[in-house]
Amino acid sequence: MTEIRTPRLMLRRWREDDLGPMADINADPEVMRWVGDGSVRDLEETAEDIERWEEEWDDEGFGLFAVELLASGELAGCVGLSVPLSLPELEHEVQISWRLGRQFWGQGYASEAAQATLEFALQERGLDRVISLSRPGDDASRNVLRKLGMAQEREITHPEYDVPLFVHSIDLTEFTA
Ligand SMILES: CC(C)(COP(=O)(O)OP(=O)(O)OC[C@H]1O[C@@H](n2cnc3c(N)ncnc32)[C@H](O)[C@@H]1OP(=O)(O)O)[C@@H](O)C(=O)NCCC(=O)NCCS
Repeated sequence: MTEIRTPRLMLRRWREDDLGPMADINADPEVMRWVGDGSVRDLEETAEDIERWEEEWDDEGFGLFAVELLASGELAGCVGLSVPLSLPELEHEVQISWRLGRQFWGQGYASEAAQATLEFALQERGLDRVISLSRPGDDASRNVLRKLGMAQEREITHPEYDVPLFVHSIDLTEFTA
């Protein structure tokens, strides 16, 4: 069972009681603005997401973590790893992504969770490199990417949503724990 403790967070596998809080996060249009096609996701879709993330953990030994605040036990959102299956040209890559409830922004939690996730991915799970995708205008994610030391590589177009995406990457030699 993969669990990571950071100074303020617990990154862990998903539990049944995470569904409600994660669905609340997914129901906020401001949170979902830069995610996928920008649509909010309902309770059923959130349950499907969590099931898929758990399957990825079982099959690949990585996935999206549930991010819990150590101080309160609240679910702040999800940060973790996945294969970008909707982008055929990146199917051989593993991406890091993040999504926190709005009340948890601006406190350094996303960066703290992402840094621990990269350490897990590159040093423990043994991945050669990790990519991340950002949309032009998603300044909050670009700020996290900058702090992680993930360099922008190139720009692609999402085949389904027809929106530009920047591809960022980092490998073990570039990573500073
Ligand atoms: C993208 C997202 C995760 C970024 O979250 P965030 O809270 O802005 O990111 P961080 O964790 O880096 O925290 C940012 C700020 O918290 C502040 N902060 C407050 N207390 C802090 C602390 N103890 N330690 C560090 N930073 C702290 C800092 O000012 C920091 O900004 P800075 O790096 O410019 O100084 C968040 O905006 C989000 O969930 N958005 C919706 C989902 C989304 O768009 N995901 C990406 C597309 S898939």
